Amino acid sequence: MDGPMLAIDRSSGRPLGVQLVEGVRRGILDGALRPGDPVPSTRALASELGVSRSAIVAAYEQLAGEGYLDMRQGAATRVAELPTTFSGGMPATGAAGPGTSRIVAALTSSAPTGAPDAEPGRTEPRISLLPGYPSTARIDARAWRAAWRHAAAREIPSVSPPPFGVDSLRAEIADHLRHARGVTCSPDEVVITAGTNEAVGLIAGALRVLRGAQPIVAVEHPGYPSARRALERRGMLTMPVAVDADGLDLEALRRAPHRPDAVMVTPSHQYPLGGRLPVATRLELLAWAGSTGTLVIEDDYDSEFRHTGPPFPALASLDEAGLTVLVGSFSKVLTPWLRLGYLVLPPAETNPTLRAAVAEVRADEACPVPGVAQEAMAALLAGGTVRRHIAVTRREYAHRRRLVLAALGDLPGAPLSALDGGLHAVIELPDAATSAAVVARLAAEGVAVAPLADYSAVAGDEQPGIVFGYAATTDTQLAEGLERIRAAIIDGGIARPVERTSRPIG
Ligand SMILES: Cc1ncc(COP(=O)(O)O)c(C=O)c1O
Repeated sequence: MDGPMLAIDRSSGRPLGVQLVEGVRRGILDGALRPGDPVPSTRALASELGVSRSAIVAAYEQLAGEGYLDMRQGAATRVAELPTTFSGGMPATGAAGPGTSRIVAALTSSAPTGAPDAEPGRTEPRISLLPGYPSTARIDARAWRAAWRHAAAREIPSVSPPPFGVDSLRAEIADHLRHARGVTCSPDEVVITAGTNEAVGLIAGALRVLRGAQPIVAVEHPGYPSARRALERRGMLTMPVAVDADGLDLEALRRAPHRPDAVMVTPSHQYPLGGRLPVATRLELLAWAGSTGTLVIEDDYDSEFRHTGPPFPALASLDEAGLTVLVGSFSKVLTPWLRLGYLVLPPAETNPTLRAAVAEVRADEACPVPGVAQEAMAALLAGGTVRRHIAVTRREYAHRRRLVLAALGDLPGAPLSALDGGLHAVIELPDAATSAAVVARLAAEGVAVAPLADYSAVAGDEQPGIVFGYAATTDTQLAEGLERIRAAIIDGGIARPVERTSRPIG
């Protein structure tokens, strides 16, 4: 078969089957593969990709099970027709090149790792409700510029920033955590990172120093795909652990086939399903970690935005054994444009070896965040800009959350969840085919949302549904996006609005 080589990345540590499934699924959702298109025979694709035929058969069967492919005995496998109620059609992006089958082109143009967020080469949606993006419209522009001027006006050092980051920023972050999260730590325990993934990579590097070749890290299923991939890229073996309505299922962790070296968890707002670990479970998790010597990586990515009830204490603030590393980020609080985050190590007295291992990695790799950016961030924190911005956006997100509830909260066949905190919501849908149809119809209408299936850590165990963010658009765009989601659900026969029991009198 002609055409470019496929974007199967053998070095990524991701199973080939998962990469195949994601590539084909994306090709269908992008419209590079249309309903009725034949896909290459399993034999042809296996030889094209240099993988076993059984891997292709398994991938095709999974896609057929999800409703994307139509497999019939004795006939060519084709891209399935979507339910006729979804008349929006597919967007015609990602055209196949001459001599290249559409499936090859779809795989070639796919992002290598199946991220649910921006993908190179994809047409910009008119309304992006992709999760993970904050509102930046209300950032105090004068204070922002003043902070950068202040940082730029300082003397220019002829050395790299210190391995754990600039002291003034570490002190400001310790202060910020005390106010925003009730976490008491010393600036000495704070390490500046280039966002969450770099923080996770740094911890993985330290785990290799401490535990040898291939440490095992338990991750949530479903969970945050890019952190999982950051761990895998750093040589970690990830072990998916189910989540329940509260978040990580501690029983499943206890029963897991291997005892992990670390567990990565989003206890305050499980990503993406939204559960919150009760305080008693937090304490049990810490007790289990203490008894097994497991490191707990607490991804505290959006706790500043709690919409219902008071926030629960961070795991790091309950930990006495020195086994919790808190990972924080300014990506939600301000903007991912900064690529700025931090981790908080346990006090040196309780876990000196972890600190030494992190120091060893950083001594080799240096602090990746430019000193000037660290100084600007310190100025934004010191001047109260971040605190005020959190207060403003918390109100804005609470308002947007109400818009989401008003637009989609009365569809019991498509339950809405994950709204107790943060900036995203989840809609559970009955099955893979309806999910694919809703995502495709919305894409055709210019509205981007993420399939819940993309967050699965276990191939073949994808949950049907969609995940969408409600922070980054304007109110008007959000209202239109919500209206279109509602219409896709109702027109698709997935759910009917609940009849209001109270009627206006007269
Ligand atoms: C679960 C989770 N953790 C952390 C982050 C922040 O990542 P970063 O700091 O790398 O931008 C995100 C952003 O979407 C997230 O969804």
